[in-house]
Amino acid sequence: MIDQDIKDKIDILETEFNKSLNGVSDLTELESLRIKYLGRKGFLSHFFRDLETLPLEERKKVGKVLNKLKDRIQTKLTEFKQVSQKKEVTEKYLDSTLSGDRLPIGRYHPITTVLRQIISCFKGMGFSIAQGPEVETEYYNFEALNIPKEHPARDMQDTLFVNDNVVLRTHTSPVQIRVMENQPPPVRIIAPGRCYRRDTPDSTHSPVFHQVEGLCVDENVTFSDLKGVILVFAKYMFGSDMKIRFRPSFFPFTEPSAEYDFICLICKGRGCHVCKGTGWVEISGAGMVNPEVFKYVHYDSERYTGYAFGMGVERLAMLLYEVHDIRLFYENDVRFLNQF
Ligand code: FA5
Repeated sequence: MIDQDIKDKIDILETEFNKSLNGVSDLTELESLRIKYLGRKGFLSHFFRDLETLPLEERKKVGKVLNKLKDRIQTKLTEFKQVSQKKEVTEKYLDSTLSGDRLPIGRYHPITTVLRQIISCFKGMGFSIAQGPEVETEYYNFEALNIPKEHPARDMQDTLFVNDNVVLRTHTSPVQIRVMENQPPPVRIIAPGRCYRRDTPDSTHSPVFHQVEGLCVDENVTFSDLKGVILVFAKYMFGSDMKIRFRPSFFPFTEPSAEYDFICLICKGRGCHVCKGTGWVEISGAGMVNPEVFKYVHYDSERYTGYAFGMGVERLAMLLYEVHDIRLFYENDVRFLNQF
């Protein structure tokens, strides 16, 4: 315990300091206050000098209390100085009447926008959304889709292999199998997602691109249901004048198979490099699910039929925005992207 009289004096000193600090209005006044309390001839130095008259034990105790007070005063002075300096800079350099810089506003990538439109259209027709992995086994990407090893149809899609049995999926069709494995009919899904192929890039081919798979399985599903749904979709995306056509084709997982094209909106059907002079842009493969595929997922092909399609999202975006080269979507040139 230290002498009550000395303790009172120290408390008064601290109270006085705090009061004075509250009244400080600039850095010059702050410096005067510092000298008054911590300077060589300041109040604290006086106190320390007076300690010499005290007995040794008492001197040690009071010295400790005084050192703590000195630290507190120093900390408060430093904090006050930092705050004042910041305020001074703000007041000196900030003109709050100036109008601010406009921040660039982010936007969706055009492919995302088109994907969202596609999803919204099919949701409206009662389809739900399914997803599958982009790194896929050969079984789902080929075999269960009735494309056995050594089948020439594997050459239709140049495949990127991860190892002997694992590929980067070449299309979204494996999601068909994954969905049917997990639920009995009826099925009505779309599966949007990224696909990978060793295609040489050109104005309509990219090694990474998006497809939206569609699958509908139920009793009495026919090819005309497929055509109806695609026609509704085409008009939803491009307006009621949009023209589409179906051509016979071949896919091992559909029988019969077709491809459908949308009229080329870039040349209005007259012929250009995007439609390769035909006036039509190939959008999708499609067809009635091959009963061979139903065997893999244990669906009764006597009772159920289904249609499927897998359309290219970039091709749709090219038509919608009249973009002449698919590669523009992936060059990330903000001057291009800012237009959407
Ligand atoms: C298929 O991928 C089949 N899985 C589609 C299918 C699904 C058929 C269900 C029957 C039933 P294809 O290889 O034709 O088919 O590709 C479908 C669409 O994907 C093409 O019409 C095209 O629009 C788009 N596409 C294909 N390769 C590329 C590529 N490299 N770059 C951009 N789009 C592509």
